[in-house]
Amino acid sequence: MSFKGEHILSVSQFDRDTIQHVFNIAHQMQPYASRQKRTKVLEGAILGNLFFEPSTRTRVSFGCAFNLLGGEVRETTGMESSALSKGESLFDTARVISSYSDVIAMRHPQAGSVAEFALGSRVPVLNGGDGANEHPTQALLDLFTIERELASSGQTIDGMHIAMVGDLKFGRTVHSLSKLLKLYKNLRFTLISPQELAMPSDIVDAIQSAGHQVTVTDALEGNLNADIVYQTRIQEERFPSKEEANLYRGKFRLNQEIYTRYCKSNTVIMHPLPRDSRMEANELDNDLNLNPNLAIFRQADNGILVRMALFALTLGVEHLLTKYECAVPWYSNKHSG
Ligand code: NCD
Repeated sequence: MSFKGEHILSVSQFDRDTIQHVFNIAHQMQPYASRQKRTKVLEGAILGNLFFEPSTRTRVSFGCAFNLLGGEVRETTGMESSALSKGESLFDTARVISSYSDVIAMRHPQAGSVAEFALGSRVPVLNGGDGANEHPTQALLDLFTIERELASSGQTIDGMHIAMVGDLKFGRTVHSLSKLLKLYKNLRFTLISPQELAMPSDIVDAIQSAGHQVTVTDALEGNLNADIVYQTRIQEERFPSKEEANLYRGKFRLNQEIYTRYCKSNTVIMHPLPRDSRMEANELDNDLNLNPNLAIFRQADNGILVRMALFALTLGVEHLLTKYECAVPWYSNKHSG
């Protein structure tokens, strides 16, 4: 099972065995991510980190994941500061940047753009989100988080109940995650959104055809009795106007009171982040911050492990991590948790 030299563009490239392989490598990254030791396995390698759409954690975690393996990062952010704004094609940009880099991570507002870019690239390209289409590395880290969180209460992904909440139409994270989850067995999906922001029907059909149970609703109350509640942000940047996005902002707020009333005592709360914490949205209230089942920051931490694994795999060094190990000389309390 090898990913060496491959692009990671879509979750449809994965099956349960390959997912488990990625997760096994991700687990091996824990001592490096927590600074117990270092590995210089990618010393000398360069990541081209191209983010043509706003991003904090995806961009920074791709960069840090590469640094943690010993590699260097060159970054471009924003369309206006790149030659794409001068009319350069994705193919030409890919041709050039791929000769400067060993691997590329890319985010772009247009669906299909990262795959188009990959056609011109001579090095592996990892999709960091292409419009409302896909976000495969996020889906893998979400699934990794679900597996870990459920395992702590003796549960498995097979047989679980997940409620996805919010903007299921434009949210690429829930699109990619649903496509991965359909590979598992006997799942229950509760899809909670305003009717106008419902999960695309091709994804619902695919989940149902794979034998899972799907409930579609626009009511939050009474539908949160799930193992995982996956909250999302209204993707205002994909609406024709801010006014239209505002119609839906704050529709499905989750706070401690609603959690206590409608969730199970161990329902895990997830969110790809950023959570919109403005008063009028407040989709995951700060009063949940002390709830031990709020997994959003563990989820973001897991992004480092999964992205390190994907770099190691696409560059074919996953079996060389320990060979290039060295000590961490500086003070670090990261591994104390
Ligand atoms: C998500 C994205 O960009 O699709 N964020 C992320 O990558 N962690 C979700 C969002 O922006 O709402």
